[in-house]
Amino acid sequence: MELNEIVEPLLVWYDAHARILPWRSVPTPYRVWVSEIMLQQTRVEAVKPFFRRFLEELPTITALAEAAEDQILKLWEGLGYYNRVRNMQKAARLIAAEYGGEMPGDFEKIRGLPGIGSYTAGAIASIAFGICKPAVDGNVLRVLSRLMASQEDILKQSVKRRMEEQVEGIIPETRPGDFNQSLIELGALVCVPKGPPKCGECPLKHLCKARQQGIQETLPRKTPPKKRRKEARTVLVLVSDNKAVLRKRPEKGLLAGLYELPNLEGTLSREQVLDNVQAWQLSPIRIRPLPEAKHIFSHIEWHMLGYLVQIEEPEMNPGKEPEEGFLFVEKEDMDRKYSIPSAFGAYVKYLREIL
Ligand code: ADE
Repeated sequence: MELNEIVEPLLVWYDAHARILPWRSVPTPYRVWVSEIMLQQTRVEAVKPFFRRFLEELPTITALAEAAEDQILKLWEGLGYYNRVRNMQKAARLIAAEYGGEMPGDFEKIRGLPGIGSYTAGAIASIAFGICKPAVDGNVLRVLSRLMASQEDILKQSVKRRMEEQVEGIIPETRPGDFNQSLIELGALVCVPKGPPKCGECPLKHLCKARQQGIQETLPRKTPPKKRRKEARTVLVLVSDNKAVLRKRPEKGLLAGLYELPNLEGTLSREQVLDNVQAWQLSPIRIRPLPEAKHIFSHIEWHMLGYLVQIEEPEMNPGKEPEEGFLFVEKEDMDRKYSIPSAFGAYVKYLREIL
């Protein structure tokens, strides 16, 4: 899916389903600003009466700038987080002093006002001024995470910034405000935060990767992935003439049932490796270290050291039967018959070169 494929169906859906809201019907910069600040911690239905009263008593930015603190606090009573309205008044005074009492029609200038972050600045710029800037809030992060089946933690600033860039790349010049609001609205009405999303009603259901994978209810991710456990391992490239030694992994657990290069827990010295090889009833002739390698699984990291060990052919070792599970394999069979996980890739590559 190319992200720009969402634009058309979203706008068509928005035209048919957008709620009629007081700040939408007359989207002046001041009204959009007041509504967005109120909506930051409060539901749409709860905001409506507060919005109406606020605009009646303080109909302009200048009126807000000049209002007594008691009045603005009273107007905010019941919404909570009073710093939001204190910051609005600070911004209103700044707008009165610097911009003649009118909200500047410039994203950076809006973004520079007290209490206005990238989301609110994007909402005001796009909805009130038709500027192509994204307005990515929690609703939009949820919608986008699901659309793209992104496992990234949406509480991370870096993730939010990347999503903002992706949205900025697809905002239609003709309807930036409607487009941003269509994403917000989809998150509020269809791709809902609580309970299962209403995928049946979604105009983007044919594009949604989370839905295709059946993981929509597990997204968005809001916690950092668990820290990976680090494990040290020593990997042995055991060769005997033109054969390499492989071992079948246990049927349960990590890389179950696949074939591996024999390996041991920890970072071992030559002597420790030779002791182990002998304990496996194999006879080492020569040993030399190989470079370190790393492999990252979802929940484990292997930090590996390798050794190349030449061993005597088992036939020349009468009375010694190698440990169960070891196989002596020719290069062709290694490629054809045995599935060796890429965790061993660095050493398998080495093995292919010398066989
Ligand atoms: N929540 C935040 N901003 C909104 C908007 N413009 N319309 C509806 N819900 C919102």
